[in-house]
Amino acid sequence: MCGIVGYVGEKQAAPLLLEGLKRLEYRGYDSAGIATLSNGRFTVHRSPGKLSQLIERLNGSYPAGTTGIGHTRWATHGRPTEANAHPQTDCSGNVVAVHNGIFENFPERKAALQAKGHRFTSETDTEVFAHEVEEAFTGDLFAAVQKATRHLRGAYAVVVSSSGEPGVLVTARSGPPIVLGVGQGENFVASDPVALAPWTRDVIFLEDGDVARVSASSLRIADSEGRERERSTHRIVWDAVAAEKGGYRHFMAKEIHEQPTAVAETLGGKVSLETGELSFRGTLLSPESVAGFDRVLLLACGTSWHAALIGKFLIEGMARLPVEVDYGSEFRYRRPVVNERTLTVGISQSGETADTVAALSEARRAGSPLLAIVNMPGSQIARMADAVFPTHAGPEIGVASTKAFTTQLAVLFLVAAKLRESRGLERGLTGEERKALAHLPAALKETLDLEPQLESLAREYQTARDFLFLGRGLHYPVALEGALKLKEISYIHAEGYPAGEMKHGPIALVDEKLPVVVLAPHDGWREKTISNLREVKSRDGIAIVVTTRQDEEIASLADRVLVIPETIPELQPILSVVPLQLFAYHVAVRRGCDVDQPRNLAKSVTVE
Ligand code: AGP
Repeated sequence: MCGIVGYVGEKQAAPLLLEGLKRLEYRGYDSAGIATLSNGRFTVHRSPGKLSQLIERLNGSYPAGTTGIGHTRWATHGRPTEANAHPQTDCSGNVVAVHNGIFENFPERKAALQAKGHRFTSETDTEVFAHEVEEAFTGDLFAAVQKATRHLRGAYAVVVSSSGEPGVLVTARSGPPIVLGVGQGENFVASDPVALAPWTRDVIFLEDGDVARVSASSLRIADSEGRERERSTHRIVWDAVAAEKGGYRHFMAKEIHEQPTAVAETLGGKVSLETGELSFRGTLLSPESVAGFDRVLLLACGTSWHAALIGKFLIEGMARLPVEVDYGSEFRYRRPVVNERTLTVGISQSGETADTVAALSEARRAGSPLLAIVNMPGSQIARMADAVFPTHAGPEIGVASTKAFTTQLAVLFLVAAKLRESRGLERGLTGEERKALAHLPAALKETLDLEPQLESLAREYQTARDFLFLGRGLHYPVALEGALKLKEISYIHAEGYPAGEMKHGPIALVDEKLPVVVLAPHDGWREKTISNLREVKSRDGIAIVVTTRQDEEIASLADRVLVIPETIPELQPILSVVPLQLFAYHVAVRRGCDVDQPRNLAKSVTVE
């Protein structure tokens, strides 16, 4: 999942491209490169590794040119070397291209072009595109790209420039996202509006199949049939500052601490904390629509899938509607039974995760109405859904998802309450729920105040080889999330498990060296969870307990106890996950890991 950026205007392109790439680096950081056009020739600079290595190589002497493209890579085809870095070029160096996605039929296209005498210098699928454009170019780059894309199959977002038509960029999209940034006397192209925040907040989201010609003074878009198209301009609400660290050492730390505000803003305007009245736009959750549903299907990946598991508990518990949860990457390949009586909900921070997009398209094909819970406005999942329930977490830059997760849980609680109301079970929120929701941001702040305890816990257990996270009911998915956070940023092997399942296998792992994090809030599952805690202690496991009240029984069993604020069971996971986020963060920092850009990962997984 690469980050691509392009600029055409009066300013020197190189500094803008590098700044844009800095803001896109969370999408992939295996290699980076830029190309600018000056005096009819492209200058290409590429480097394996992080963008900082490219910037070091440039050493402040940027290539000239007011037209340029840039790329930061997550390697799919070809190792992270300089030769495989983007921009890729054609035989003559007159065409330069950057790409996010995968051209599935590149081997046969490469062979066909080699048979015509084209010489290739990389292992990438992308280089084929540069040569296809070279092959099709007769002076009109727009037409050449339309022709080139017809030869290629797969998922792609590409930007290309040619010295044969200076001052023009052409971009095409089929799958991964592309936005055009609208400027004054200049225009931009990028994978994500975040990259353009310092220069413009007016963006145009390209649709699948669109090809766009971008010059300093004009934008022209044609759809997959070549028909000229007008696409609406969106003004992005958050500014450049929102996409900065704000004084924190890492984006992840900032985003963990932004959760009280993010949750408050996500709830804002959707529920009256005075009356408990729910206010949703759109008809998808109206009594008439809900009467037509006999089940709910939640589709997501990674951390969003953990939110979906909690959504199942909330919707079944509150609205008494059967819920199925599935991985985006598994769903469409198992011939699922879905129809118009199934309400499908897609959950995604980025709104661009290819596995989730593909699963939702499958549900849509079966006639199922789609509700999207996404954090990125204008994203593919938002645009394909019948109704959108946005989380207002703001830009999430750290690869490990934190504030998006807690805001997803807040939204799922309101969706469950709305379904309950539309099924005539309860009007709006109960008094207890209203109070708990009103107090949630303050309770989150209180939980964040535990940070020093998590820091010392991290100091103590930073060298552990394995971890086990246990929880029951609503806290079993929280245990999964705690394990995922630790795995993905500290590279310590960790497993989350339903506490009751431990005795059916994982208990074999328990010994005096294994830290076991047990989530034991004072809820209906506490008794049973305590007996699992006893099982851990009877095998000398190290028990780290997260609970909501000091009590002797837990104190007598646990090696370390963390007491977090208590709220109603349905909202408790929003608080319980915070110490697990902080713990993972401080362990990773202590182990010297790259917290915001963990190895082998990317923020938005735009290929299947
Ligand atoms: C979580 O920390 C990871 N970054 C990853 O598992 C992520 O949740 C997954 O890729 C889904 O992303 P989405 O929410 O943007 O669809």
